This record gives sequence, structure tokens and C-alpha cells, in this order.
Amino acid sequence: MKNTKVAIIVGSLRKESFNRKVANEIIRLAPENMELEIVEIKDLTFFSEDIENDPPKSWIDFKQKIADSDAILFVSPEYNRTIPGVLKNAMEIGARPPKQNSWKEKPGAVVTVSPGAIGGLGANLTIRNAALSLNIPMMHQPEAFIGGIKDRLLEDGKTVNEKTEKFLRDFLIAFERWIMQLTN
Ligand code: FNR
Repeated sequence: MKNTKVAIIVGSLRKESFNRKVANEIIRLAPENMELEIVEIKDLTFFSEDIENDPPKSWIDFKQKIADSDAILFVSPEYNRTIPGVLKNAMEIGARPPKQNSWKEKPGAVVTVSPGAIGGLGANLTIRNAALSLNIPMMHQPEAFIGGIKDRLLEDGKTVNEKTEKFLRDFLIAFERWIMQLTN
């Protein structure tokens, strides 16, 4: 069976990002036929319509990586009850120019992670909202807004505890099913 290629977009550029740690755990816990890879957004220059028809190489490479993937997984923090600007910028670049939306019809899912109690729920819903316009059909359930992340990491600071690991495994199985439903 062909592997399902999933592009992970991490909404934080911070070196010690909890979201990146969770994304790496998701890669470790992936089902056998799911190939997940973080597609970096840190080198994307700011979006402007002025240059979308003659885009910089960083945009072209990014759009190609999205186009080459079968599905999209957003893993992001919440900033001020919405999403980090760097993530929104990547969404715009992927979606443009008109009729060249690289996100189009790729099955999607979202995980938000926060040290706070409500797990980035605002960002989770904001990403779902943007996905309507990006034309990414998003998995509805299970929802994944992971709060209290500091207490979910083991002493090495990067491995999630058993309960979170089980949650992520179940989430990935549901996501795999969602991708199959939409692509077969
Ligand atoms: C935050 N943080 C935050 N947390 C939250 O749960 N809701 C929020 O609205 C915000 N707002 C916010 C704004 C800005 C500008 C910063 C820098 C931070 C805290 C945030 O969850 C925390 O810094 C996380 O550790 C960020 O995710 P990474 O970088 O660890 O993945």
C-alpha cells in the first residue's frame, strides 16, 4: 500500500516550541503507512499580492511541498486568542495566486498546544475557520486542543506522557480514516 504523505505545519518558530515537540511526537507515533514531515515556514517572506505572480523561491518551494502531500496537519499555539502571524502568512502563500491554491481539497486536521488550561481552543477554531476558505476539509472529531502541556512532558522535556501518547495515537488513527474516506 502506498504511504500517505502528511505535511505538518507548525505555527511556532520558537526553538523550544511545545508545538514542535508535540509535532515530533506525532511523527514518532504515526500509524505504519503514514509518512509525516514538518514543512518549514520560517523562511517564507511576507505575503503581498504585488509579487504573487512572480513569487520568491521560498514560496514556490513551499507550495510544491504542500502540493506533493496527500494531507495537511496544523500544529499550532494560540496567540492572543487567534493564530500566530507566521502561520497565517503561510496559509496565504499556499492559497495564492487565484486558481493555484496548493491546499485545495487536501484532507486536514488541527492540533493546538498550550501551557494554558484551554489548549489553544481559540486558535483551533480560527484554523478551522480559515480552512473553509483554503478549501481544506477538516476532520471534525476528535478535537485536539492540548492544555497544560508542561505537565504532559516527561523529564526529558520532549516525550509526552502515556495518557497524551494514547490520545495522539487515537487522533492519528481517526485522521488516517478521514484521509482514506476523502481520497479513495
Ligand atoms: C501567547 N500565549 C498564549 N497562550 C494561550 O493559551 N492563549 C493565548 O491567547 C496566548 N497568547 C499569546 C500571545 C503571544 C504573542 C505569545 C508569545 C504567547 C502563550 C503561548 O501559549 C506559549 O508561549 C506557548 O509556549 C507558545 O507555543 P510554543 O512556541 O511553545 O509552541
